[in-house]
Amino acid sequence: MEIETQALFPSLVWTTLFDDRVSFNAKLLELAEQMRRKDPNGVSNTNVKGWQSPNILQNLEEFGDINLRILQACERIAESQHYQPNVVLRHQAWVNISPPGASNKLHYHANCHFSGVYYISLKAPECGSIFFRDPRVASRMFTAPITRQTDFTAEEVRMRPEEGRIYIFPGWLEHGVEENKSDQDRVSISFNVLAIPQGSPIG
Ligand SMILES: [Fe+2]
Repeated sequence: MEIETQALFPSLVWTTLFDDRVSFNAKLLELAEQMRRKDPNGVSNTNVKGWQSPNILQNLEEFGDINLRILQACERIAESQHYQPNVVLRHQAWVNISPPGASNKLHYHANCHFSGVYYISLKAPECGSIFFRDPRVASRMFTAPITRQTDFTAEEVRMRPEEGRIYIFPGWLEHGVEENKSDQDRVSISFNVLAIPQGSPIG
């Protein structure tokens, strides 16, 4: 008997590694540190012990290159998921500087289609992984007696950060970041992206 498998309602995470990451990240790291020097208090959201900038990178010319890459990646993903061809993508982005001991609590991003993170500087794997929680809430009602997790039975999945890598995922997918147990800051840019149909009053 052959058993066939079908994946229903999969949760997707998209990723890419930028070829020019060394020079690109050197510029971004300098910009991130400049921002923190100008606004040492930053804002407080889901970050524990870390510094977070306000959601303003999309308005800053000096971050134009990363803003463009975020939008281009999301355009490709939206196209692969048959979003209307005339949608306009709008995003908000911010810098995270997470020193040793910092982490991010489990959370999701409401009111956006895509969320993501781009890694500028870190020491892996001790700097902590991003982890995603199974969004199938009912699956937690009765767990299976397994010997090893699969994509189907996992309650959480960790993805290791890497300098120059971007992860993009649906805003509804709960995620967090483990404690930075390395001896250096973990620096990243996070973002939310909204797809607005052309002609919409919020476009
Ligand atoms: Fe997040």
